[in-house]
Amino acid sequence: MDQAPSDVLILEPGQLPPSGTLLPPRTPRWHDTLAYIANPDQFCRTHLAQYGPIFRTGVFGGTTVFLGSSRAIQMVFNGDTRYTEIGLPATTMAMFGEYSLFQRPDLHRQRKSALRPAFTGTMLAGYLPHLHRVIEQHLQTWNTTSPIALVPLVEQVCFDALVPLLLGIRLDQDETIAVASLPIRSKADLKRLYKTFFDGFYGLVKWRSPLTAFGRGQQARSRLLEFMRSVIQQRRTAPNPLEPTADFLSMMLANQQNDPTGIFSNALIENQCLLQLWASHYEITGLVASWIYQLGQHPEWIEALRAEQSCVLAPLSNLSQVSSEHLRAMTTLEATIKETLRLLPPTSTANRRLTCSIVLDGTLYPKGWTLIAEPRIAHRQAAYFANPDRFDPERFLPPRNEGKMYEFIPFGGGVHACLGAQLAMTMTKVFVIHLLHQFDWTLLGEAQFVQFPLKIIRNNYQIQLKSTIRHHPTSVT
Ligand code: HEM
Repeated sequence: MDQAPSDVLILEPGQLPPSGTLLPPRTPRWHDTLAYIANPDQFCRTHLAQYGPIFRTGVFGGTTVFLGSSRAIQMVFNGDTRYTEIGLPATTMAMFGEYSLFQRPDLHRQRKSALRPAFTGTMLAGYLPHLHRVIEQHLQTWNTTSPIALVPLVEQVCFDALVPLLLGIRLDQDETIAVASLPIRSKADLKRLYKTFFDGFYGLVKWRSPLTAFGRGQQARSRLLEFMRSVIQQRRTAPNPLEPTADFLSMMLANQQNDPTGIFSNALIENQCLLQLWASHYEITGLVASWIYQLGQHPEWIEALRAEQSCVLAPLSNLSQVSSEHLRAMTTLEATIKETLRLLPPTSTANRRLTCSIVLDGTLYPKGWTLIAEPRIAHRQAAYFANPDRFDPERFLPPRNEGKMYEFIPFGGGVHACLGAQLAMTMTKVFVIHLLHQFDWTLLGEAQFVQFPLKIIRNNYQIQLKSTIRHHPTSVT
């Protein structure tokens, strides 16, 4: 159940906590933010060992409590409107803008329910032919004669796969965007703007100047919104009728047509196009690249995955026929993706500020403090995951079934649980099914990661591919 623990005690103003209540351990230090940003894994790991799964820090200024126990995580995931509010830095909130799901708690549930169909169920299943086509086309161009730069290539595939699903515009494999009248004409320019936009989220000062990351991010945001507006205009005036399940934008426009005064205002639609492309493109790239890296380190799993693929897909003549049911049946594949997310979670989650003081399990969390749920702590707890430092996908399979709610939290949870989790898992599965079919790969050394704000392998990391296709030219097995 997505609910706060029933025994969270919310203190009235002036009410004292029960006797014996303690503050979380550790005194915040002035250099905590730098230490965390430089290496969040190490920061979490050393403090978990020293203080346990809940401790106080000075990360991002003020007092920030890091939470890695499932009860505390359940508490922070479900406090919206009762005892927490979003506690992201001011620059981040301004970059999100007023139409993100992090604003307007009063409208959150309504907006999220309205957006959800585009990322789940039949619409998601309907994206599969497109995903197969784009991924297969790209992989056919991957070079086996010399090393390839992993992240840039994965990113190209993700971008080309996601833009049509979200905005309904066609992207050719060359560099142009195949719609004549848009204000941004090349994929490279669009990606550059997105990168500047992304960097603005974590600008240190909220000063609108070209001299600051925030200022440049805001400029990029305006240009991207202008681009989204043109895409929307194109769609509205296109001669072919809207197909509400074809892509995210069509779904929103069809809803607007049916209910012109409803939730889908023009501003919400253009902002959602902007934000969902931002959310999906970097996160899925990071996950796919990390999976390729993890499996490169544990090649013993590759044969198990190919065996599962042969078994589940035996009657098919072509990978493009792989459906949601086939994906669901590939439980070992899913377990390897989950294990990648467990060991290399892309982000922390649930950055919330307490709007009143609360007590849970004898610990006092005072009003005004910030709480962060940290998968880097929860995922490394032996109480939740046996031998937590070991790559062991079997932990997610019966009979072990590790990875319970609030213990496995790569996609957050509760009220603000990730809207795109199913899309991310589906796209990663399709990607790696094609990859496993076409290539073996060897890692070229140890990868360095960009650690913050998103954990992702550095752009210069290379792997060597070897084609397997000539052994099985047509069959999927
Ligand atoms: C590997 C891929 C992804 C990871 C690890 C991830 C992670 C997360 C996390 C941890 C949260 C919770 C944030 C919080 O509680 O403060 C979140 C929320 C969200 N994610 Fe994702 N995400 C991924 C992919 C996507 C994709 C593909 C989309 C959209 C297409 C998306 C859209 C969102 C949205 C809209 C929210 C906010 C939900 C709300 O406020 O109710 N994410 N994501």
